[in-house]
Amino acid sequence: MIELIDLYKDPQRSIESRIENLLSLMTLEEKAGQLHQAPAPIEAVSELCALARAGRLGSLVLATSAHAGSEEQQVASLDQYNAVQRAAVEESRLGIPLIYGRDVIHGHRTLFPIPLGQAAAWDADLVRDASAAAAKEASAAGIHWTFAPMIDIARDPRWGRVAEGFGEDPFLVSVMAEACVRGFQGDDPAGSESVLACLKHFLGYGAAEGGRDYNSTEITEHTLLNVYLPSFEAGIKAGAGSVMAAFHEIGGTPCSGNRQLLTGLLRDRLGFDGLIVSDWNSVGELQEHGVAESPRDAAAIALDAGVDLDMCSGAYLTHLPELVEAGIVPIEQVDNAVRRVLRTKFLCGLFERPYTERSIPSQEFAEATMALARRLAARSAVLLKNDGSVLPLSKHRSRIAVIGPLAHARRELMGTWSIDAVDSDGVTVVEGIRAVAPDIEILTGAGPSDLDLSLASRADVVIVVVGEHHNRSGENASLADLHLPPGQTELVRAAKELGKPTIAVVCAGRPIILTDIERSADAILYAWHPGVQGGLGIADILFGGASPAGRLPITFPRHEGQIPLYYNHKSTGRPNEGKYLETLTTPLYPFGYGLTYTTFAYSSLSLDAAAISANDTITASISIKNTGSQAGEEVVQLYIRDLVARVTRPIKELKGFQRVSLEAGETKTVTFTIGPDQLSYAGPDGRRIVEPGEFQVWIGGDSTAAQSAVFRVR
Ligand code: NOJ
Repeated sequence: MIELIDLYKDPQRSIESRIENLLSLMTLEEKAGQLHQAPAPIEAVSELCALARAGRLGSLVLATSAHAGSEEQQVASLDQYNAVQRAAVEESRLGIPLIYGRDVIHGHRTLFPIPLGQAAAWDADLVRDASAAAAKEASAAGIHWTFAPMIDIARDPRWGRVAEGFGEDPFLVSVMAEACVRGFQGDDPAGSESVLACLKHFLGYGAAEGGRDYNSTEITEHTLLNVYLPSFEAGIKAGAGSVMAAFHEIGGTPCSGNRQLLTGLLRDRLGFDGLIVSDWNSVGELQEHGVAESPRDAAAIALDAGVDLDMCSGAYLTHLPELVEAGIVPIEQVDNAVRRVLRTKFLCGLFERPYTERSIPSQEFAEATMALARRLAARSAVLLKNDGSVLPLSKHRSRIAVIGPLAHARRELMGTWSIDAVDSDGVTVVEGIRAVAPDIEILTGAGPSDLDLSLASRADVVIVVVGEHHNRSGENASLADLHLPPGQTELVRAAKELGKPTIAVVCAGRPIILTDIERSADAILYAWHPGVQGGLGIADILFGGASPAGRLPITFPRHEGQIPLYYNHKSTGRPNEGKYLETLTTPLYPFGYGLTYTTFAYSSLSLDAAAISANDTITASISIKNTGSQAGEEVVQLYIRDLVARVTRPIKELKGFQRVSLEAGETKTVTFTIGPDQLSYAGPDGRRIVEPGEFQVWIGGDSTAAQSAVFRVR
């Protein structure tokens, strides 16, 4: 017996043999325990130790409530996590370690811009580096596993969770998914500075009707495969170790009880063999959805569908043993789920390294991470308007008023999921400006006040910092009115009416309707919720220390009534009709859009062939010239349309992008290779196909790019 037990403890043996050995030793109750993930409030520590000791706990979610992203969390300390781990490893019968998960969404203590902002940087390397830095901080705090990246496609800015994802485009979100997985997991999720990644929420959560969180969706298989699935495919290809099943239902079946989705699509078709975790109580909620009569029923449905680990409902722990004994749930289903939990723990190295030693990041690491946060904050900011080149500002201009409700905001700039933030780490916009341009006189109040306009009237230039509180976006934070909170638009207008050059800096977690601001402000810098170094990153752009490099990862509507509004829509049979009677159908700012401090001209788009066969590649080249008077960076974007297919295809889809830096007057040629990856789609039978016929290619600076060419696939 002792020898048998020793087998799974031997790191020289293969993981699979260790798993089988362990499985052969486990009771049914211990198996159900492995499939149970509990929350971790401080007051529950001794209860959690008792559960762990009894082998009735597999994992902790280091949170105390179902809306952890927007509520204060009194979670246990590292010593307490280690104590619960000790109960599992040293005091339980088999000594199986626990795995600890937490939402490290856009940084742990060092908050980077919200994911939507990171996407706006269109810079996979930076996003990977930020995720790696977050993993290093999180793993030092005892976290083994992050519930990120959130790679839901979001076409509806009313949905507060647009903040947590990377926008509306399957290609851009896929690039970000891959970057995050590589950053979080490093070369190996067992690394002492890595955390396991979790792709979420499977699948189509962003399609919630009316933008109301958790709401039902109606998504056709075609749209599911072509719009919502690709980012998950990319994340899985990059090696993500886990996937989270979503809360919502698609066409009548909740995702956490959806066998077709979790087993048919995710396991069988995509070949995902990692861990599938439910969302918080989404197994229990099968009862609210009305597809389960009881938690017992819910446990059987979810396990059969493919959910391995039950986050917080307790239904697996309580009911799986009796469901197996009653012959309702086959033991093989339980065993397979347990195998995946154990495999994940082995892959994360937890059997060899169950405890986290307290470690304080080196000064060097802390400084490098802050520098990265500042750079990402600057690079994610999108310059939406810059009339008369009011930006960049001179560092020697005498008087600048910095007003508005977010001028002195610290925590607000960190955005949703800033649960591990330390408020005093944050840099306000006023502080950022002071640091970057110490010679200017700043006129500002101590906070938002009535003084704002009188300060503005004495200034040469007015910067109005407007936007949203960090909890006005995120989970369960949908909005029907996407304008700025009351008074903010009026403040920008009033500043402009003083006759001063007026710059609006907008810090928000979603696309805000800026139609009125666009009419009054001379310049608009959209900084999202930029994170802990937000004030500095913004100041870098305002004073030209960094050039604007951000581009929109999501369409900005003119009016809420236009929603959903996204660039990669289908044509109708009457593309020039179907208009609104009282507003335009075009966005205020299109996907991919963003200005710089210079201008670029595109010319001579050419293809190296007129026709190719379906397996071939074709090369598209374009010439780009910096026609302004300063150096600048362009995001050159490639869009493609399959002009005739068996089913309707989007009028344009992003299929590649490259960042190019150009000195004033400089010209460069940019080349894209286009092949089956860019030309195929999931066809009527779900398989990827390249169909013969004509394809149109556009290359330019945003999704309205005008330069195009056509080629044929034989
Ligand atoms: C619910 C959210 O939907 C999910 O994204 C998050 O990871 C869990 N809560 C855990 O906090």
